[in-house]
Amino acid sequence: MGRAKKVVLAYSGGVDTSVCIPYLKQEWGVEEIITLAADLGQGDELEPIREKALKSGASESLVADVKDIFVKEYAFPAIQANALYENRYPLGTALARPLIAKILVEAAAKYGADAIAHGCTGKGNDQVRFDVSCTALNPNLKILAPAREWGMSREQTIAYGEKCGIPAPVKKSSPFSIDKNLLGRSIEAGTLEDPANEPPEEIYEMTKAIADTPNESEYLEIGFQKGLPTTINGTSKEPVELIEQLNKIVGNHGIGRIDMIENRLVGIKSREIYESPAMIVLINAHRDLESLTLTADVSQYKRGIEETYTKIVYNGLWYSPLKAALDAFIQQTQERVSGVVRLKLFKGNATIVGRWSDNSLYTPDLATYGAEDQFDHKAAEGFIYVWGLPTRIWAQQNK
Ligand code: ARG
Repeated sequence: MGRAKKVVLAYSGGVDTSVCIPYLKQEWGVEEIITLAADLGQGDELEPIREKALKSGASESLVADVKDIFVKEYAFPAIQANALYENRYPLGTALARPLIAKILVEAAAKYGADAIAHGCTGKGNDQVRFDVSCTALNPNLKILAPAREWGMSREQTIAYGEKCGIPAPVKKSSPFSIDKNLLGRSIEAGTLEDPANEPPEEIYEMTKAIADTPNESEYLEIGFQKGLPTTINGTSKEPVELIEQLNKIVGNHGIGRIDMIENRLVGIKSREIYESPAMIVLINAHRDLESLTLTADVSQYKRGIEETYTKIVYNGLWYSPLKAALDAFIQQTQERVSGVVRLKLFKGNATIVGRWSDNSLYTPDLATYGAEDQFDHKAAEGFIYVWGLPTRIWAQQNK
């Protein structure tokens, strides 16, 4: 008896997921494997990947274009949450996992599979995100993670694949481990494993080196409706198109590179390089618009919510009651976050230089230092008396 009869395997076309196919059959007695590759805008050609799965022994090879859902239901809420893990990483990889889990679970139901499989190792965050998300969506499914148990090095994995007749990689494999989608690229391993090493220029694809960026600055206006980005320079854009265009416009100025040591859920520190041009700029612009349209207390309270939100999304709890509750809070706050943010792009910086909104809470008559000033200065005196009262009493007691 194998560990499962029929399995839906998350498939990328890479070495690990390809080797999973013969491995699951030969070592774990799985009878039938259906592979599922998600098109998240990673730019890979998916037809060769689809065929490779069949050549590797899959009975069915599915490709799902989920770009639109990815942006609308995963990236956009993260922008509304200003989600930057450890203040820097816009969660490009972390947001894709729960969506992949969702389509795996749906495919398992459709094809009558009793298990889900993925090629994640036991060291990363992605295994947690897949396992917990799949379990949340269907607690009856088994989850198989052969790479967590097989104990093969990369060389051994490749050798195992060759022995099983797995076709050579579709494209030449890089010394780096790269995960990419519409929201950006996550790059680790190779020479990057030494945190002291400067990232080589060759790892970047979406962002230009500063030396190659335009010598003229460029203005960019991003329009938001209820916290969702809808326009670029005054022109309406569909969500996927908006992200694609922003990646180009912003990446061209070398904006969106991140080099960080991050704390994984499993306790390991890792050095990761990201390039995420559109998301970085969208989150910064969105946060700025909130500063114009939210009251001080909502804005400040939301910071704590954002931090919790970001952490639980990073830690694989996308489909959790806490996440749903935080979503409700965040949605409520976005009702009036509409307007435009103007940025100046130049040599690796996207500087916010202006913002406006019909819902602006900025009150010129109160803020001005000019003659039009409407603020009742005398009222400040009584306010300060009351505000400072506890401190005054304390000081009198302790003199
Ligand atoms: N550290 C990122 C995360 O946990 C990305 C993980 C995948 N990175 C990679 N280079 N394959 O979300």
